[in-house]
Amino acid sequence: MLIRPRRNRKSAAIRDLVRETTLSAGDFIYPLFVHDSDENVDIAAMPGCKRWSIEGLVKEAGEAYDLGVPAVVIFPAIKEELKTSQAEECFNPDGLVPRAIKALKAAYPDLCVMTDIALDPYNADGHDGIVQDGEILNDETVEVLCKQALCHAEAGADIVSPSDMMDGRVQAIREELDGAGYHGVSIVAYSAKYASAYYGPFRGALDSAPKAGDKKTYQMDCANVREAIREVMLDEEEGADMVMVKPAGAYLDIIAKVKEATTLPVAAYQVSGEYLMIKSASAAGWVNEDAVVMESLMAIKRAGADVILTYFAKDVAKRLK
Ligand code: PBG
Repeated sequence: MLIRPRRNRKSAAIRDLVRETTLSAGDFIYPLFVHDSDENVDIAAMPGCKRWSIEGLVKEAGEAYDLGVPAVVIFPAIKEELKTSQAEECFNPDGLVPRAIKALKAAYPDLCVMTDIALDPYNADGHDGIVQDGEILNDETVEVLCKQALCHAEAGADIVSPSDMMDGRVQAIREELDGAGYHGVSIVAYSAKYASAYYGPFRGALDSAPKAGDKKTYQMDCANVREAIREVMLDEEEGADMVMVKPAGAYLDIIAKVKEATTLPVAAYQVSGEYLMIKSASAAGWVNEDAVVMESLMAIKRAGADVILTYFAKDVAKRLK
């Protein structure tokens, strides 16, 4: 035999030399939950994650930042009594998210703070858009999303990230931000966001599940690939700075194809269900958590993700150190 591929695997040193993909803490955006309370409360549906107080959020983000994680994205649990059919609380300048942004930027000015743009935490109907007679209204929702994005920019967000999947929202938000002088605020678009059962634990974490119906009239059908490319192309034309594929692990083919189709950086979101499956299998002793986490993230990176949103960000950053 002239050719023996195993020679390139014969020692850790050679494997290091020929490794094609590497993970680093700098790849990660760390999703964090915040609520209006002084206490940090464990989330039953997501062991290891908490609903943080603003103080707790700042501390957790700071620890991750000190380990090399450059960015966080914040998700608010909004009090039931503040939820309305028009989701007005989402652009309240004194609301939970603006206060959290200010606290994070005051403590860690160089930490990149990203916020989620969508109505579900604020919407009495639990949908990402405004609901009328069972229908999710597109253009009316986009108007509110623009106000939400502007409110977050005014509070100091570095990136706003529309996860709502309404048509035309990236351009509308870009114009709104530019019109107010926030040319420097980035948009990371959830471009290929699928209607996925893997979001279940997240909706439990925020009590934000839809009260009626599902999200299939705006989030994508898991059977489709070309539609993802179409969404990515549109968001690119509308001014997105990065595009995202979500979920990640079951959609590696989409990540790879999106990477070929765009020159924008590609983000991928390892969502709550992916997190919980690894957590619960390892808690039962069925898989080795550390190894499976690294393999799952390596696969997402290898598929083409430049940026990974993962609840494991801080743990992995610690391990990589
Ligand atoms: C809502 C939103 C969701 C997630 C991020 N933003 C849930 C949904 O669309 O129902 C899911 C994240 C996760 O599951 O980790 N706009």
